[in-house]
Amino acid sequence: MGQKTWYVTTPIYYPSDKLHIGHAYTTVAADALARYHRLRGQSVWFVTGSDEHGQKIQKRAEEKGMDPRAFVDEIVSQIKDPLWKRLAISYDDFIRTTESRHHRVVQAIFRNLQAHGDIYKGTYEGWYCLPCETFWTQTKVVQGQCPDCGRPVERVRQESYFFRLSAYAERIRQHILDHPDFIQPVSRRNEMLGFLDEGLEDLSISRTGMQWGIEVPGDPDHVIYVWFDALLNYLTAASYQADEEDFQAKWPPNLQIVGKEIVRFHTIIWPIMLMAAGLALPDHVFGHGWLLIGDTKMSKSRGNAVDPIQLIDRYGVDAVRYYLLREVPFGADGSYTEDALVLRTNVDLANDLGNLLNRTVAMVERFVDGRVKLPPGVGGDRTLPIAVANTVKAVEDKMDAFNLSDALVALGGLVRQANREIELSQPWALAKNKQSTALHVVLYDLTETLRVLSVLLSPFLVEAPGRMRAQLGILEPVHSWNETAWGSFGDEFHVEPGPALFPRIDPPENVASEEVAATMQADEKTQEIDVDLFQQVELGVGTVQSAEVVEGADRLLRLSVNDGERVRTIVSGIRAHYGADSMVGKQVVLVKNLKPVKIRGIVSEGMLLAASKDGVLTLVVPDTPIEPGARVK
Ligand code: MSP
Repeated sequence: MGQKTWYVTTPIYYPSDKLHIGHAYTTVAADALARYHRLRGQSVWFVTGSDEHGQKIQKRAEEKGMDPRAFVDEIVSQIKDPLWKRLAISYDDFIRTTESRHHRVVQAIFRNLQAHGDIYKGTYEGWYCLPCETFWTQTKVVQGQCPDCGRPVERVRQESYFFRLSAYAERIRQHILDHPDFIQPVSRRNEMLGFLDEGLEDLSISRTGMQWGIEVPGDPDHVIYVWFDALLNYLTAASYQADEEDFQAKWPPNLQIVGKEIVRFHTIIWPIMLMAAGLALPDHVFGHGWLLIGDTKMSKSRGNAVDPIQLIDRYGVDAVRYYLLREVPFGADGSYTEDALVLRTNVDLANDLGNLLNRTVAMVERFVDGRVKLPPGVGGDRTLPIAVANTVKAVEDKMDAFNLSDALVALGGLVRQANREIELSQPWALAKNKQSTALHVVLYDLTETLRVLSVLLSPFLVEAPGRMRAQLGILEPVHSWNETAWGSFGDEFHVEPGPALFPRIDPPENVASEEVAATMQADEKTQEIDVDLFQQVELGVGTVQSAEVVEGADRLLRLSVNDGERVRTIVSGIRAHYGADSMVGKQVVLVKNLKPVKIRGIVSEGMLLAASKDGVLTLVVPDTPIEPGARVK
């Protein structure tokens, strides 16, 4: 048998209304992981779809005076196009629960579990939450309301088929205990173990008095409960009982991504269904957090839903995808604001990434006629090749842990480091002084870093990588993750300057807060922060003990600074403004808890504060002498 297919799923969404950016969030996350695994050379099966049965859909269709089938057909077609099409969702299969391939699977599983005694007929008496399509017992209901969504529940008493969940309580608990990364993140795992502590009751899995669903085999008065039906979509989409060989290659799912409110369905009910059917359980279920508006969940019924298409129209698909994946730590809840989307795009994409590309390509064009070649025999002690290798490793580790936001944080670190490298190496000075070898090395390193960035970004962004590559003179799209290897494209680039990668966005007038507007105008890469965050920056006074020029670097001084506790080495780009001698004995303000960086082979352990404008630079110094080590705050 060949390699196991990497199988990833999203929930199948209710086509009761237009979907919003909450649904886009899950789907873009799954898409990024699917794209990543394809680049790694794996065969991938990425499934999303629609959950079309149930009372809620039936009721919505009735309200619109429509046949439920026609009602869902219309919404589903819009979900596929324009929604997933515009968001560039690269799904391999879109499963609809109204398809006959799915009906067959649901009925087959029902019969199978019934034959084994795991499904039996009884009477259900309790409560039902229609928006959640969830049964609740008396003890769970809080003052007539659903414990999940807080909306009123309705009383139900009817004949029903039951699924013997209770018989599997111990087995599922043991599975969760034995597989610590089955439920992620760990907070959801603990929540589910807590839930199991309260005991499991058998689950009502059929309804009478409604038609919109899949019939219980041999008992047409009963329609199968929509969640029992829906969860089985993951089997249908893996060719269960349709193509055995294909099913063997795909099953079980490697990763199922869901919102936190349906983790219980996916980590207790669903795995028990699989156990009862004798099938393997998914490797991982990841329950991500909610996108909030203020502090409430975004949802159509609360009237605060944001339409992804409108955002794409305004800001482009990559800005929307990037914002969704970067803004909120994957797993946690986070507030959505359009201001934050604009800020993210302007800072990370326009400023940091876009400028890096723009400056690099412009310098290659100007200083070396658009052609940069790594001179032969150049030594290895260079910052960017190492930074690139470290970033590739970090992105891989984060992606393997499904930590998409941190993968992007790592990537952003590389972009900033490359921008810093421009400041430190000052290619324009090298050009002026005809230091051709050094100039080619720096420009090659920057260009090559951008090329690797185009590969690293391609799980996340769908337009920018190609546009970056066009400017780097690379016509081929990214084919493989192996292209992240330094030098894998060769030692020469012919660049092609092009338009700005991400034009700066003016903040939307209707939503722009004064602070954001001010930040934008000041062209600063900052946003409002809490005092706590500021206090994390350790600023202190130091006294410069010695200073010397760094050979071969026009702008750099190497300083030894007594910080009150020890003498630090600091490499500072102030040589054009301060001679080495003039620095000795001077008191300075330094950032003490910056991660050390290697500059020209020297480990620099901090940074001096300086003010600069229009080419003039002046150090920030204490007004009167003070003991080194004095804290600045
Ligand atoms: N049909 C069920 C799922 C069945 S899966 C076998 C369902 N559908 S839904 O349309 O309500 O979609 C819920 C999912 O959409 C969430 O689990 C999450 O993936 C996504 N989100 C919907 N609103 C969201 C937010 N406000 N924030 C983040 N994700 C959100 O439940």
